[in-house]
Amino acid sequence: MAQSFVYGIDVGTTKIVAIAGRVDPRRSRVEVLSVGEAKSRGLKRGVVVDRDLAAGAISEAIAACEFKSARAVVGVAGGHISSTNTEVSLLNRGRNLQISERFLKKLEAEARQVRLAEDERVIHVVPRGYILDGSEGVRNPVGLEARKVKMRAHIVSGAVSSIQNLLHAVEDCGVKVSDVVLEPLASAEACLTEQAREDGVALIDIGGGTTDIAVFVRGALTHTAVVPLGGESFTSDVSYGLKIPFSDAEKLKVRYGTVLSKIVDSVAPVRLGDRHYNASFLSQILEYRAREVLEYARDSMDDARLLDSIPHGVVLTGGGSLLDGMPELSEEALGVRAATATPQLIKGDSKPLQKPQYSTAIGLLYFSAKNNNLRGKSKGAATNSFGSIVEAVKSWFRGR
Ligand SMILES: Nc1ncnc2c1ncn2[C@@H]1O[C@H](COP(=O)(O)OP(=O)(O)OP(=O)(O)O)[C@@H](O)[C@H]1O
Ligand SMILES: [Mg+2]
Repeated sequence: MAQSFVYGIDVGTTKIVAIAGRVDPRRSRVEVLSVGEAKSRGLKRGVVVDRDLAAGAISEAIAACEFKSARAVVGVAGGHISSTNTEVSLLNRGRNLQISERFLKKLEAEARQVRLAEDERVIHVVPRGYILDGSEGVRNPVGLEARKVKMRAHIVSGAVSSIQNLLHAVEDCGVKVSDVVLEPLASAEACLTEQAREDGVALIDIGGGTTDIAVFVRGALTHTAVVPLGGESFTSDVSYGLKIPFSDAEKLKVRYGTVLSKIVDSVAPVRLGDRHYNASFLSQILEYRAREVLEYARDSMDDARLLDSIPHGVVLTGGGSLLDGMPELSEEALGVRAATATPQLIKGDSKPLQKPQYSTAIGLLYFSAKNNNLRGKSKGAATNSFGSIVEAVKSWFRGR
């Protein structure tokens, strides 16, 4: 089968990445053709707060990427995202009782009817499994026979206005948005193996503005959450605590920071320019914030009763996961194994991209490839497992 060209834009709070790649559908590997990066502007905690500034920064990233594309897959995150699990069932009234793709679409449409706040809309309906006439554990029911079909699904929703603002900022740069993907789902594509998802795993992507969580149990997406805190919150704390500018605080954090304050000598100094700071105090500030983020993550998984369902443990990614001691502190705070991951299975000269900051960008390529491929093959439930949110967003606004 021909290789497909894929293009993604990760509009992050600290950086914007435009990425072009090629995917060989037989081997699920992406070859990155070119990457363009720009410092982010006009975003706060994952959402666009200034359209012109954001569009300017996105343009820079696009210009820095050797390849251009008329269409791109874009990541979405931010505190407006929420998620829930639901079950819907329908009676199959077809003559021969065989379940068709059309029937699954009807189930998906039914799942989209979940009650939401006025400004909220469904972004993804991700099927988690089907129950056919009471028999559990069916992953792809197309072609099977059953009268009563129940679908368990994970539903991700977000604020219409925030998604619309992101679409506008990208489309201002002359690029059409072909799909919007929840960022932790993109990162999960790049960082998690099939086996980890089967075993049960939580991905925690600590970005600049948000910390995004995606939990997989028995291979299926079961829980997603966005914590409105990220690496920038750590840096702000250091800036306030030590009474120094944000840029100095960032340098101190990256060079000398750790979240394991107990391993830091209580009187050791660290130096920036001609000033000295107490290393122990620096680590206490960082540890305090790290614990808050991890407790948030733990509570969100605990509320969903998932802490006992992730034997593979926690996979950390995103730039914030590079802070020294994060895996160790995560193990302590969550009581499961934890390790940092970089994007996997990239073909070619991928060294510069094998960093946790690029998980979402590379994941967008995987996501796009997987969905194109599935659409092309038109293979049952997976075909529409994520749906096209862009079409949906457009239809919400049609006629307004
Ligand atoms: N070596 C390091 N040690 C500690 N923190 C780091 C390191 N490198 C990067 N960071 C932090 O990572 C954060 C940026 O991460 P990332 O690039 O994943 O965010 P983003 O994608 O722009 O933001 P978001 O996903 O929240 O919109 C910054 O806060 C930065 O301080
Ligand atoms: Mg990010």
